[in-house]
Amino acid sequence: MKIAVVGGGSTYTPELIDGFARLRDELPLTEIALVDPDVHRLDLVSGMASRMLAHAGHPATVLATTSVEEGVAGAQAVMLQLRIGGQAARDVDETLPLECGCVGQETTGAGGLAKALRTVPVVLDIAEKIRTHAPDAWIIDFTNPVGIVTRALLEAGHWAIGLCNVAIGFQRRFAANLGVAPDRISLGHVGLNHLTWERSVLLDGVDVLPRLLDGHAEEIARNIGLTAGLVRRLGVVPSYYLRYFYEHDLVVEEQRSKPSRAAEVAAMETTLLEMYADPSVNTKPELLGKRGGAFYSEAAVALIASLLGDRGDTQVVNLRNDGTLPFLADEAVIEVPATITATGATALPVEEVQPLFAGLIAHVTAYETLALEAALHGGGERVADALLAHPLIGQASLSDDLARRLIDANRRFLPWA
Ligand code: G6P
Ligand code: MN
Repeated sequence: MKIAVVGGGSTYTPELIDGFARLRDELPLTEIALVDPDVHRLDLVSGMASRMLAHAGHPATVLATTSVEEGVAGAQAVMLQLRIGGQAARDVDETLPLECGCVGQETTGAGGLAKALRTVPVVLDIAEKIRTHAPDAWIIDFTNPVGIVTRALLEAGHWAIGLCNVAIGFQRRFAANLGVAPDRISLGHVGLNHLTWERSVLLDGVDVLPRLLDGHAEEIARNIGLTAGLVRRLGVVPSYYLRYFYEHDLVVEEQRSKPSRAAEVAAMETTLLEMYADPSVNTKPELLGKRGGAFYSEAAVALIASLLGDRGDTQVVNLRNDGTLPFLADEAVIEVPATITATGATALPVEEVQPLFAGLIAHVTAYETLALEAALHGGGERVADALLAHPLIGQASLSDDLARRLIDANRRFLPWA
């Protein structure tokens, strides 16, 4: 079985390889193709990947290539994990909005829009190559902003599913809190990518969220950067991305007084690449644990194994709404638990969403609709409209100003600008 990873030169790739090696019984791989335009990174990361597989006694070979066509040919699944413009562009996403008093984040708010503008056309171009050279392959999209990118892929008729590690992270953490195996826990996870709430936590089918909040509210709240009082009052666990909404002004103040996450990650990447260049390093470096992508390899292996093996189990993914949340259009992309079989993902029914969460979900969905329009068709007015529709921006002169600045800073990635 062959898998291709587009953006395979990412410093995250050894995390994925570690998962492939540990979970080889679930996913019997024979070839892993790493595709990346950066030859230097590709060389270092593929060398590291080959050493890790050999060390683990895994038989798969690694193909390193700059050609999407060559990489995806014959693959049964293609993972997209690319970052257009690297950490330098991310740094702009995280710092430029701060100049206007708005949160600086790579997927939320104005930074997320800039990322969508840079990313959607490139991903669609890659997906066309996949359609031609691996027409039966599933596309697993990790590329942020996952909701918008997945919607772009689905609207263009691709076999795509969006994936994020937030849900699996909660599942693992709650399991640790309760001292039970993670596979006994399933989540009542609802919302959009990076805009979700856990409304129930089932242990062997019984909701233990009230018990979790009784015993662990402080720790849970600390991990998501909110107060225990708020978490108790809501009676649900928001993802840490909700902090950018619920504590927006506080976050802006904090961000103004410290280096960007992009700068921190860039420094880690330098160290990681040095390790990958060292022929004696053949296991996943601990430093990778400081990245946000914990458990992403496990989520990916589970999803691919269920798609290719028709397992019919439940996993949290990004997929077309199609009536699951009745207050959203069918073509909106939502993040909820779904049954995964060989024909794809089918959302499980979702209990009525309370206004406190439904309002924000609907508002951000409207923004995502306009963000995709802007990414597909370009134009300053479309960019400004998307910002005007975003709950964290929403004022006319602010939207116009941010639109101008974002387009200026990203001009070399925007063919229409
Ligand atoms: C989490 C999110 C990802 C995001 C990552 C950033 O894993 O779910 O979508 O890419 O955090 O991590 P980083 O280490 O790059 O800040
Ligand atoms: Mn994510």
